[in-house]
Amino acid sequence: MGIHNKLIIKCILLSIGCLLRFREKYKYKRRKNKRLICDKLDENCILNNKKIRFINLLGRGGYNKVFCFVNLNDGSCHINLQVIVDSTVTNYEKLLKCGVGCCFRFTGTLILSPVQNKEKKGLLQHNVELTLTDNNIHSFEIYGENLNPQSYPLSKKSHNKEFLREVAHLRPRSYFISSVIRVRNALAIATHLFFQSRGFLYIHTPLITTSDCEGGGEMFTVTTLLDENTSGDYLVNYKKDFFNKQAFLTVSGQLSLENICSAMGDVYTFGPTFRAELSHTSRHLAEFWMIEPEIAFSDLYDTMELAESYIKYCIEYVLNNNFCDLYYFETNVEEGLIERLKNVLNENFVRITYTNVINLLMEFSSTFETPVSWGMDLQSEHERFVAEKIFKKPVIVYNYPKDLKAFYMKLNKDNKTVAAMDVLVPKIGEVIGGSQREDNLELLDKMIKEKKLNMDSYWWYRQLRQYGSHPHSGFGLGFERLIMLITGVDNIKDTIPFPRYHGHAEF
Ligand code: 4AD
Ligand code: MG
Repeated sequence: MGIHNKLIIKCILLSIGCLLRFREKYKYKRRKNKRLICDKLDENCILNNKKIRFINLLGRGGYNKVFCFVNLNDGSCHINLQVIVDSTVTNYEKLLKCGVGCCFRFTGTLILSPVQNKEKKGLLQHNVELTLTDNNIHSFEIYGENLNPQSYPLSKKSHNKEFLREVAHLRPRSYFISSVIRVRNALAIATHLFFQSRGFLYIHTPLITTSDCEGGGEMFTVTTLLDENTSGDYLVNYKKDFFNKQAFLTVSGQLSLENICSAMGDVYTFGPTFRAELSHTSRHLAEFWMIEPEIAFSDLYDTMELAESYIKYCIEYVLNNNFCDLYYFETNVEEGLIERLKNVLNENFVRITYTNVINLLMEFSSTFETPVSWGMDLQSEHERFVAEKIFKKPVIVYNYPKDLKAFYMKLNKDNKTVAAMDVLVPKIGEVIGGSQREDNLELLDKMIKEKKLNMDSYWWYRQLRQYGSHPHSGFGLGFERLIMLITGVDNIKDTIPFPRYHGHAEF
């Protein structure tokens, strides 16, 4: 064998050694002990009489002299695992003293339940239970007792959503919020899978900014100048502030994203955004998450297509990966949910101009609190009416009057409307706002002046139009509104673990 070949073999062996060492080094050892109830309930291998260890939280059912029941949930699915502990098992007496809300580890044998619960059909192939009967191989440990069962806020009965919001630190233990959190997780994964598989780069845009993207003025100021001793009116000299000028929490990552798009092509950001809106509605939060793609060399119609595909992809992903949770929402939150989602998947979204929507709405003008006329901003009642009553499916409204929309949107040839689009869905209204961006410097400057914005603060954004401008467009989707759409949950405050809204930043 020549020296060259020997070298290659040595290199290969070294790399394999390296890889193995890496795998060893970064192995997550604890993982192998953790059994997800959800996996086990679905697997057939559970019935081979193997000893299985489950760890986690919550609950004890009833008991008698011979055995006691524990309803165990580890957050992997909303279905509890029934554990049956024989009175001969060590420390049985201690278990009897545990109420709801304790944390346990059980090592037992998983068996087919003698009674197969018909209600759960469609979710599980079999009902199973964990039995602890043999002291030699089975055991349990009580990690944390419920020290004060009388004051424990959650009980077995289902609580209303308003009450659960008051105990947001405990509400992930409820079927309702734990299902929301799992769907939220699934949608985050779906988002990255969707954009990554289409060649978009994930960009982290800044949360602290000095420019108002949407021009709505509903921004939270970030300052280190104010302290607790400051009372009454206080004129802040922002030149002395941390950033030497007034800074805010971002309302959108779009402007920063456009910078990167102009260099690197298709990009997206997915992060928290903040709006100091005083709206007390079921669809507004002060802190919400937004997904914003920016598509290079695209127009408004490309954006519409991407928006529709993305929403459908998310729905399909959750139908395929979180069916148990959807089934929970179907039976507890919105009857017909799964059918509705399948309909969204199977039908094309309607596309209609703002002008045509106004003409349509005028035919129903007596129905609305806010009268309908061309040039008005569509209110939630109008948006919902269009999607819910007129078309009964998602609708993309486009070409809005320029006075209603942000400065960066591309002016249409009519000089009255801009290439903007909103995706409206039944029960919620707007879930997506997007547009083609103005790529002509002259027209952009005209719009900045028209909207009375500070030209200087957009110097860097304007330079993108000066140095190799290109057509591009994008949209922003409110993540919590997407969760409302897919779960049927009717208040946005229940789609995020710790909601922030006017007067509320608890937990
Ligand atoms: O329509 P918006 O204001 O669009 C933008 O911010 C653009 N810069 C996006 C872009 O083109 N890159 O907001 C986008 C979406 C809305 O359609 C809505 O779903 C959601 O963000 N949203 C809110 N969600 C919860 N609470 C609020 N206060 C929200 N405000 C907007
Ligand atoms: Mg909008």
